[in-house]
Amino acid sequence: MSDAPEQNIHIDPYERTWIRISIGFLIFFIIMIVVAGLALGIQVPTDEGRVNPNTLDAELPWSEPGLREIVPGEEYEVYIVASRFSFNPREITVPKGAKVTFWATSSDVQHGFALEGTNVNMMVIPGQVSKLSATFDEPGEYNYICHEYCGLGHAAMFGTVTVES
Ligand code: CUA
Repeated sequence: MSDAPEQNIHIDPYERTWIRISIGFLIFFIIMIVVAGLALGIQVPTDEGRVNPNTLDAELPWSEPGLREIVPGEEYEVYIVASRFSFNPREITVPKGAKVTFWATSSDVQHGFALEGTNVNMMVIPGQVSKLSATFDEPGEYNYICHEYCGLGHAAMFGTVTVES
């Protein structure tokens, strides 16, 4: 190596090894991001618009929270209003195989929305609209819980998605 005239920078062998390991990690993480996004369908919540938290009662669809059937048996939407200390609706029922898109906002303080057994995990913020989707291939009950401390009743703030076979 040292006899190559153009290579006059000395890199310690240990340092060279660690540089290679670091580059290897970078490549590994980039691959994992691509796999997570494209193959596993892991989504990051994005800005879905704004809404006035003080006039939710007068503004569709928030004035009528609940489940909407888009394609029977296949595609559903649910509009959820979080407020201290409950979700409206508290329960929804969909058939097995349904793809459900959850739209959520808050009428008072910051809440959270995490859906058991899925990748759906988002903050629910007054004034902001949050949205994530999940497909339910297994029948059963999936709880959604508030995971942002919102006050004394926080621990009791949850709801349930029932997936029928
Ligand atoms: Cu709502 Cu914690």
